[in-house]
Amino acid sequence: MTDLEALKRAAAVAAAEEVRDGMILGLGTGSTVKHLLPAIAVRGLTGLRCVATSVATAEQAAALGIAVEDFDAVERLDLAIDGADQIAPDGWIVKGGGGAHVREKVVAAAADRFIVIADETKVVDKLTAPIPLELLAYGLPATLARLDPCDLRPGLPPSPDGGLIADYTGPVGDDPAALAALLSATPGVVDHGLFPPGLTSEIIVARLSGVERRLLR
Ligand code: 5RP
Repeated sequence: MTDLEALKRAAAVAAAEEVRDGMILGLGTGSTVKHLLPAIAVRGLTGLRCVATSVATAEQAAALGIAVEDFDAVERLDLAIDGADQIAPDGWIVKGGGGAHVREKVVAAAADRFIVIADETKVVDKLTAPIPLELLAYGLPATLARLDPCDLRPGLPPSPDGGLIADYTGPVGDDPAALAALLSATPGVVDHGLFPPGLTSEIIVARLSGVERRLLR
């Protein structure tokens, strides 16, 4: 295992320790979450109910014997755990490197606690583009023109909800909340990958020097 994979695993293992018997759990998406699922499975917890933010996560969970159900069947989650692409000092996070940010935000918002797990390369001084977007197919050229500069992400299929994955590549500026509000207010944008600090309960960052935990709420 490379150093980077070992760091992802360390963050994932620390978060897996937060999972308890009988919890309803939201499972994120990505290479860090790939380490989370076996770390949960090995604990042999009972009565765990899970929802997954992507088909890939649902398939890995099922292969590990972790029961996953439709999010239609669940109203609240006890805990959600997911990775991140960028983590700013003020707690703003960029997600959606895998194009799953819409489902990931829905799951995070439904959870009593949302834990973000990452290796130290995800910690940044300031958020920068690209900011992932999911766009409605209807009127796509007009939406892309309004968001300029913005590019459809090549090689990614539509999301499971039919949205197209794109990236806003313009300036983020010093106020992510302003950009988040602008993107949210743009017709045709399903949602964006900017996650405000208020959504996250804890950030677990694995560094070569050890695992760092930061409580946000
Ligand atoms: C997927 C995501 C991922 O959580 C994010 O891209 C981090 O992925 P990784 O753990 O592979 O670096 O938001 O949409």
